Amino acid sequence: MRVLVLGGTVFLSRAVAAAALARGHEVWCVARGASGSAPDGARLVVADRDRPGALDELRGERFDAVVDVATMSLPWVADALDALAEKAGHWTFVSTINVYADAATRGQRADAPLLAPRTEPTERSDTPDPDVYGGVKVASENAVRAALGERAFVVRGGLLAGPGDPHDRFGYWPARMATGGRVVVPDVPDQPFQYADARDLADWIVSAGERGLAGTFDGTGPRGTLAAVLEGIASSVGAADLSLVPVPPEDLLAAGVRPWAGPKSLPLWLPTTHYGMADRDTEASLAAGLEIRPLADTAADVLADERSLGPNRPRKAGLTPEEEAPLLQ
Ligand SMILES: NC(=O)c1ccc[n+]([C@@H]2O[C@H](COP(=O)([O-])OP(=O)(O)OC[C@H]3O[C@@H](n4cnc5c(N)ncnc54)[C@H](OP(=O)(O)O)[C@@H]3O)[C@@H](O)[C@H]2O)c1
Repeated sequence: MRVLVLGGTVFLSRAVAAAALARGHEVWCVARGASGSAPDGARLVVADRDRPGALDELRGERFDAVVDVATMSLPWVADALDALAEKAGHWTFVSTINVYADAATRGQRADAPLLAPRTEPTERSDTPDPDVYGGVKVASENAVRAALGERAFVVRGGLLAGPGDPHDRFGYWPARMATGGRVVVPDVPDQPFQYADARDLADWIVSAGERGLAGTFDGTGPRGTLAAVLEGIASSVGAADLSLVPVPPEDLLAAGVRPWAGPKSLPLWLPTTHYGMADRDTEASLAAGLEIRPLADTAADVLADERSLGPNRPRKAGLTPEEEAPLLQ
């Protein structure tokens, strides 16, 4: 196939480009080249999608599969569709589970009610309001379905893990556990948790293009609990003297520790009001070919990536040793 990745220089979209190359396809990427490089063997078209007509250079090209990860920008999606949809054989739009209106109810499927689409201009941000992020993705999904019909594959990503993750969430745990000692974990034995290794999601996206798989799916793995995932990471990468120290959520909140992400956080810990986001019924996705590798493999590869970045780098998510120490008293 001839595959076009709108993105391709970081994390998931780079993994899509790499997966397509590994499966023998011709791969083009479109990015500014600001986040990193496209994988070796891919052709990078340098373009800034904030500039109207950025994709004009590609207008009229025929691609068997197009993959767009556009976030927080309906104009990016509309421009891409205008330039490329007519001749595209298959179109993947990477969306998010933030599109759902109800974050609390567990066991929902991809046909659950959505947020209202946001079509008005929005400021892009690294830390967007989740409802704005979700609403723009809803509007983007609608535009893709309207243009591509039965050639549209919409994948709503959940938490993505894997090497090259710019968000620093999942990686906190293997990095921290590998240093050993007493490690603060949230005392939430019943918290559901789901994730996908970005490389597995990427493989599924490429195979969807090969097979012409269409429809709307959640792009996240089997249902489990956060406690089981943290214990699994501990047993794969933990140091010999490691022990997990569960701290009640109320004590964490009182100490100013945030759930989920960001500075001074315990990543992947969710408020109960958001349990539905990590407990989606993904049977349809798994039946349609999404396969998630064993947790131990993801944890080991993420730890290797963390080590290559350096253990003491500033992180976007997690606790510093100084923030963790008082919680262990
Ligand atoms: N991470 C998660 O846990 C998670 C969860 C749910 C859903 N998702 C979804 O998964 C996708 C992640 O995609 P990703 O990993 O590739 O990261 P991303 O940050 O969404 O995509 C970035 C890509 O877009 C390019 N880009 C950024 N600004 C650009 C511009 N002005 N013009 C042209 N290209 C531009 C970047 O390259 P340059 O900077 O080099 O231009 C890069 O290749 C997103 O759709 C996200 O919404 C992620």
